[in-house]
Amino acid sequence: MNSQRENNNNMLRHFLTLNDLTSDELRSIIYRAQELKSMRNNGEIYEPLKNKVLGMVFEKSSTRTRVSFETGMIQFGGQAIFLSPRDTQLGRGEPIEDSARVLSSMVDIIMIRTFEHSKIETFAKYSSVPVINALTDIYHPCQLLADIQTFVENRGDIRGKTVTWIGDGNNMCHSFINAAKQFDFQLVISTPEGFEPDKVIVAHGGDNVRLESDPMQAAKDTDLVVTDVWASMGQEEEQRLRESAFANYQVNSQVMSQAKPDALFMHCLPAHRGEEVTADVIDGPQSVVFQEAENRLHSQKALLEFLMGKTP
Ligand code: CP
Ligand code: NVA
Repeated sequence: MNSQRENNNNMLRHFLTLNDLTSDELRSIIYRAQELKSMRNNGEIYEPLKNKVLGMVFEKSSTRTRVSFETGMIQFGGQAIFLSPRDTQLGRGEPIEDSARVLSSMVDIIMIRTFEHSKIETFAKYSSVPVINALTDIYHPCQLLADIQTFVENRGDIRGKTVTWIGDGNNMCHSFINAAKQFDFQLVISTPEGFEPDKVIVAHGGDNVRLESDPMQAAKDTDLVVTDVWASMGQEEEQRLRESAFANYQVNSQVMSQAKPDALFMHCLPAHRGEEVTADVIDGPQSVVFQEAENRLHSQKALLEFLMGKTP
């Protein structure tokens, strides 16, 4: 290892969950994301990651995550390499420990989208460069950076506000629980029985998190309603079963009418209109889903800059 890399290693930070950063660091990333957004909108060229390379490992499909990370690196003067298990040794059983050592000896930062969360933890343990969680079965922290940025842009500070999660207690729900604690808002979670979020993660959310099985009650006077698909990637064969289990957990105009009149609606996308959300809600005036999707670019640029130690 050369001395530059050794230095970097001593200060190595990963982003596997929102808890890897302090609440102040997360807030500064949200602020910086807005600055980077206006710099880009003003046509300013800013290349803090010139000659740097992001390795992108995707074991599940993606549109937003891939394009936002790749575009972010190009705008920052660097490059991104797309790696899929179909055409690398990752898909042929090369040990994660070996892959982590090899990839991190060549690229400067790595993002991974995979199934088991433990896989990304192992990868990070053996990586000599920062590792970013671009979605696992348990968490999707990058999406939360964009979601918080979007809320802040529309309504100001999220501290003390109420957010209602309706649907599956999945990876997005878990990251919302972490966000509730870190950004200090109240999160009300409404899921069908048997689809609640992980108990340990809920417990860590402490007073910031409450479960409410009735979605109409859960949405009462809330500032933001959020949902996600009923069957996540890897659960495709459960689609039918889930459609009936989640039938009463659709975000529709009745649910939105319980929320504050100026409540926002978010969805990480891709969405299924007519399942977890009706078209009139997701395409209606309270929905900010496309601003939310665009903010993946700006917030992840702020994250890349931070993890690479390049924040001005
Ligand atoms: N929201 C999100 O992560 O989208 P992709 O699956 O398209 O990356
Ligand atoms: N919960 C969804 C999020 C997709 C961005 C999934 O894991 O498929």
